[in-house]
Amino acid sequence: MAAQLPIPLYTTLADAFPTSDIALKHAARFNDLAQEFEHRFGHKPTYIARAPGRVNLIGEHIDYALFGVFPTAIEQDIIIACAPHEPSTRDPGHVNAHNVTPKYVPQSFTPMLRRRADSIAKQEKQEEEEQGNLYLESDWHLDIDKRELRWESYVKAGYYGVLNNYFSASSTSGVHPKPADILVTGNVPPGSGVSSSAAMVVASTLAFLAVNGKLEQQGNGLTKGKLVSMAVENEKRVGVNSGGMDQAASILGTANSALYISFYPSLAAELVTLPTTIPGTKEEEAVFVITNSLVVSDKVVGAKTRYNLRVVETLLAARLLAIHLSLPASFYESTVTPNRPTLREVVSAFILQYYSGATEPVPEKELENGLEMFLDMVEVLKGETVREAMGFPQPEDESEQGLKIEEIIKASGMDEATFREVYLSWVDVEATYFQLYKRTRHIITESLRVLEFRDLCLAASNAPSSGSNISTLEALGSLMNGSQESCSKLYECSCPELDQLTRICRESGALGSRLSGAGWGGCAVSLVPASEVTTFIQSVKERYPGYQGLSEEKLNEAIFATRPASGAFVYKLTE
Ligand code: GLA
Repeated sequence: MAAQLPIPLYTTLADAFPTSDIALKHAARFNDLAQEFEHRFGHKPTYIARAPGRVNLIGEHIDYALFGVFPTAIEQDIIIACAPHEPSTRDPGHVNAHNVTPKYVPQSFTPMLRRRADSIAKQEKQEEEEQGNLYLESDWHLDIDKRELRWESYVKAGYYGVLNNYFSASSTSGVHPKPADILVTGNVPPGSGVSSSAAMVVASTLAFLAVNGKLEQQGNGLTKGKLVSMAVENEKRVGVNSGGMDQAASILGTANSALYISFYPSLAAELVTLPTTIPGTKEEEAVFVITNSLVVSDKVVGAKTRYNLRVVETLLAARLLAIHLSLPASFYESTVTPNRPTLREVVSAFILQYYSGATEPVPEKELENGLEMFLDMVEVLKGETVREAMGFPQPEDESEQGLKIEEIIKASGMDEATFREVYLSWVDVEATYFQLYKRTRHIITESLRVLEFRDLCLAASNAPSSGSNISTLEALGSLMNGSQESCSKLYECSCPELDQLTRICRESGALGSRLSGAGWGGCAVSLVPASEVTTFIQSVKERYPGYQGLSEEKLNEAIFATRPASGAFVYKLTE
């Protein structure tokens, strides 16, 4: 349901936040930003777009395989003040983009229309011009440098989607995107696994929609779900093929509820009350505490050996498993991306084949049972097994469970050119051995942990008065610990500092602790009994080597308790 709701547009901040305290805190930031905007651009902003970061409680690296995840939006956000440029004499769509943080140098850019091939466009162009219309070509272009990390790339990524969805070639009405001034600020730490990039892309998409009057346009069809899809596509332009979790959490986030977000067969979000916030369980209340490992890891940097490689590994695994299951040609044709099935789709096909009679969408209970059984089958992805079945020589290191790309191509049943087109033409990845077995084992077990986590929360919120919930909290914590272990050993997306930090968190009283987000650095999230939060924070501050010598202010930015916060919205400034 949440995905069908319209994008919130507020004229008073009290309506946007769950309590007046929180609203007041944000109001001060919004005011400061509006004043700074006026100081820089000589006119007032008309809107402020806001998008929060997120923390993922459990379910890492499974969203792009289309399995459900369990994040919450956090209090920290990106806010963008914006207004049409005055006077409006600039080129259509020109943007002056400033960032309050001095190290992010102001930028200005103008989107360019890319011409269609003349042969196609000539006649249409003539027709339009004869009627006095502006002829808009097929798509808009903004330069985004994928090799270098630049703050404005995320602003441009958000803008891209607005241009191409709302000022497309088919729009021959002569309506141009407005030249705009924007000023960005925020407190989501970059490169820390709490989704500063999605917050930036979502806020930028919203700012450009607002400036161009698209939010208030009657019948615009803009729902939160549509915004999630736009933001996911937009962020890919920066060079990472991320799943939809971050954007969905930032947009669908709701104060006091975690989100169970599923992507298959289509985007859906279920609000789930955490046992930590159930009234009547005061003694055993627990909170989620975020601790930043201070190892900066941006998904864009090193994407070809890390994030994007993992995406490809999981797709290759899905192909080999589909072949193992002898799924028919019609299966490959019907997948979300035709001929490139995801693991979730293969699992569904497996369940449908196994439970004759079941139909899509596979009921949740059957999904859990099906995943358990699927896990046994994952063994066929072991390097040794595939090589033996295909008659390939075993490598010198006999423990190597990965597969070389030539081996995968042969096992895929595709010719090399088609294989490269389907799996490698859209992404740049680098590996000697592709670890299909380990990655898939992580994805399936992690998906099971998410379902169990959700079931525990739902059971606790349905029976809040059934006495002690400490065992529920312990069970949740143990699932989080299992997730960390799997991320570290099977998915290899942790790092020594995160392994150490999560260990210190457990030793300091956390019931569970795990990395959150893409990993390879960034933040961990820990479940801590409320009564122990102060000693927990003190102990981690004292023991984590990365925190030694930091000022109190920096420490408080690096370690803080969090609770589910509200999602993205636009605030309209009125005189
Ligand atoms: C990043 C991506 C998400 C998700 C996580 C890992 O945050 O943007 O889509 O894949 O990594 O769970």
